[in-house]
Amino acid sequence: MITIAELQNIVEKALQKENFVTEPQGLYQPIEYVMSLGGKRIRPTMCLAGFFLFNDDFEKALPAGLGLEIFHNFTLLHDDVMDNADVRRNQPTVHKKWDENTAILSGDAMLIKAYQYVCKTDTSVLKPLLDLFSITALEVCEGQQYDMEFETRNDVSADEYLNMIRLKTAVLLAGSLKAGAIVANANAEDAENLYQFGENIGLAFQLQDDFLDVYGDEKTFGKAIGGDIVANKKTFLLINALQKASGSLRDELQNWINVETFDREQKINAVRNIYNQLGIDKIAKDKMHEYFQVALKSLEKVNGKESMKSELRDFAVKLIERSR
Ligand code: IPE
Ligand code: IPE
Ligand code: MG
Ligand code: MG
Ligand code: MG
Repeated sequence: MITIAELQNIVEKALQKENFVTEPQGLYQPIEYVMSLGGKRIRPTMCLAGFFLFNDDFEKALPAGLGLEIFHNFTLLHDDVMDNADVRRNQPTVHKKWDENTAILSGDAMLIKAYQYVCKTDTSVLKPLLDLFSITALEVCEGQQYDMEFETRNDVSADEYLNMIRLKTAVLLAGSLKAGAIVANANAEDAENLYQFGENIGLAFQLQDDFLDVYGDEKTFGKAIGGDIVANKKTFLLINALQKASGSLRDELQNWINVETFDREQKINAVRNIYNQLGIDKIAKDKMHEYFQVALKSLEKVNGKESMKSELRDFAVKLIERSR
């Protein structure tokens, strides 16, 4: 028996062995930098767990897992430019430490490296694996596009938001689990149920990320608090606040969304205060638990090792209770 914590450790060790730096260093040093800053390694760990449900020899899923982690880190480089974020994993983001051009080009190189790692997988499963990877990667781009478009819209519905986070975040968690199942030669139904489990914990995961962006502790979260509020991100919190607020509270919220010059901390505190008055934190937590329950139903249907299913259940609980 192997635990998810042990799989996470295996991923971390495997990443430490990789050397991303070669010439020109200006291209590869930022890759080494972001890859060595830590991170929870959720996606490769899910890939190994998805494999281990059906097959013990998890080394076979390691290249795909590393590819998924490199892909994830690529999205972070570009996401931090798009979100104008200065800090990640408690360190300056690549576009701050270097510049935007570096974040763009090193990010591009990472996307290609991600494919190179995935392609090290046994050829007998490579075609379905690559198809899944490509569809998932495109969906992440689609989600990121909606995320940006929603910044300047004030009529985004909860359903539109949920579809946006499904694309930008949930499909990669789902795809990581399914990738493991594909490499393990699991049957299509099990792979699909595992995907559904991943998609639903992925939705809860992004809801918690949005929650921590407002209520988290900066040092523990590793990112600046309030970035979503400053950028008018249409999070589940803001959408529900816009729906619930009335009278002067609604005007106040609308003013903070419209104001062009403002003090950062003042806006963050004011909007958080409005959320508190409306009980928005509870609405978000309830939604997370809803997705968690749906996720468990899909996991139940998976015909894999019971011990690993139990590990995945515990892991899902930790994901939505996390503070980093
Ligand atoms: C951050 O992902 C981006 C989101 C989808 C919220 P993680 O929270 O998994 O980031 P790291 O890799 O652990 O730093
Ligand atoms: C990130 O969403 C999703 C992707 C990186 C694709 P966020 O923009 O909320 O992620 P963080 O909070 O910067 O990690
Ligand atoms: Mg973003
Ligand atoms: Mg961001
Ligand atoms: Mg976020």
